[in-house]
Amino acid sequence: MGFQLKGMLLGAASAATQIEGGECGHNWNDWYHQGKIKDGSDPARANDHYHRWREDADLMATMGLQIYRMGIEWSRIEPEEGKFNKDAVAHYRQEIKYLKSLGIQPLLTIHHFTNPMWFEEKGGFTKFENAPYYLRLVRLCVRYLGDLVSEYITINEPNVYAVNSWLFGEWPPAEKNLGKTIDVMSVMTYCHIKAYELIHRMRKKMGYNDTKVSFANHLRCFVPKDATDPMQRIMAKGSEWAFQKAMTVAMCTGRFQFPMKNYGKLPKGEYCDFQALNYYSRSAVSNAGNGFLDNVPVNDLDWEIYPHGIVECAQFLYDVLPRPIYVTENGTCDNQDTFRCRYLYEHLKELCDSGLPVQRYYHWCFCDNFEWLEGESARFGLIHVDYETQKRTVKKSGQFYSAMIAEGGVDEHLYDEYVDGQSYRIK
Ligand code: BGC
Repeated sequence: MGFQLKGMLLGAASAATQIEGGECGHNWNDWYHQGKIKDGSDPARANDHYHRWREDADLMATMGLQIYRMGIEWSRIEPEEGKFNKDAVAHYRQEIKYLKSLGIQPLLTIHHFTNPMWFEEKGGFTKFENAPYYLRLVRLCVRYLGDLVSEYITINEPNVYAVNSWLFGEWPPAEKNLGKTIDVMSVMTYCHIKAYELIHRMRKKMGYNDTKVSFANHLRCFVPKDATDPMQRIMAKGSEWAFQKAMTVAMCTGRFQFPMKNYGKLPKGEYCDFQALNYYSRSAVSNAGNGFLDNVPVNDLDWEIYPHGIVECAQFLYDVLPRPIYVTENGTCDNQDTFRCRYLYEHLKELCDSGLPVQRYYHWCFCDNFEWLEGESARFGLIHVDYETQKRTVKKSGQFYSAMIAEGGVDEHLYDEYVDGQSYRIK
C-alpha cells in the first residue's frame, strides 16, 4: 500500500476556453449560441478565470501545486485575422509572471480545441494552406511570452479534436467526413512539427537553451468487447491504429504511415522533448462501434476507470520515442467527489510503480469547469465551483492532493484518511 513520488512534480492542467469565460468570437461561443451545449450552459461564464486568475493562482500555491499547464485563447489574441490584441498578450504575461513568482512552473498550450470564427470559416485545419495562420500564432506567443515560458504544448489532442469535430459530428463544425478527419490529423501533425522547430529556433535566438516542446496526446486503451471474436480483435487493433497510433508515430518521428498524409514533405526526425500523455479511459470495440466493457468501474459519464491503462499508454509512447513522460492530463468526472481520491491514488500508484521516467503529473483539472458539450454539468475539479457566485471550495480530493504533495507520496495514514472506504460504481 502507498507510494513515493520520488521527485515527480504535481500540478494541474486547464484550457483557456474551459475556465476563462468571455465572448471571444470562437467556435464554442458560436456553438453555444446554436443551442448545442447539452445543459444549456454558456462558455462565456465558465469560471470567470480571466478576471479571477490571481485568486486561482493563490489557491494553487496554498495547496502546494508545483506546476501548471495553461492555455491561451487564440480568439482573444487575434480576434480578427491579422489584428493582434496586445492587451490579451499582456494579460497572459501578467498571469504567467505571477504564477512564477509563486514558484509554479508554467507549461503553455497554444491550441486546445477552440478556433476563432474567422479561422473556422476558412476551413480551419482541414486545409494545408491554413497552417501558416496557426504558425503565426505560435510565433507571436514565443515572441511575447518566450522569455517567461520555456515549455510548450503545441496542440492538445489532435485526434480527439479531429474525430469529434469532423467524424462523429458532435463538436463544431460537426461534419461527418472521413477524408476531412484524416486531413485534419495530417495538417495538425504538420503544424506540430513546424511549431516544434519554430519554438526551438526562436528561443535559441533569444539566448535560451532550456526549451521543451511536445503535443498533448490523448491515448486510450483499446480492447475487443468480446475477446473471443476474431473480427472484433481486428477491429480493436484497427481503431487503435487509426485513432492514435499512426498519428503518434507521425507526430513524434515524422514517419507518415497510412492513413496519415505528409503534406509538407517533412523529413523523419525527433519532434518532441517529452512525451505528453492525456489518459482517461479504455474503449471496447464491437460491431456496434466503440463503447465500454460491461461490469467495470465507471465514472459519472460512464467512462471505464482503468488505472493500469495509464502505464500501458505511457509505455507505448516511450517505445515510439524514449523521452521523459509528463502526464499532461488525467482525471475523472465525479460530481459528488466521492471516488476521486481513490482514482488519484490508483493512477498515481500505477505511475510511481511503473519504472518509467514519469517526471510530471498535471491533474485534470484544478477547478470544475466548462466541459465542452457537457457544459457545467460534468465536474472534474479538485476545487468545487459554484457557477452562480463563482465561489471556489477545496474538495476532499483537493485536500488529499495537497497532502500528497506535502508528504511526497501516500503512506498508510493518508490512505486510511482519504482512500479507504471509497469505491466506484460498476456498470
Ligand atoms: C480534454 C479536456 C477535457 C477532458 C475531459 C480531454 O480530452 O483535453 O479539454 O475537458 O478531456 O473530458
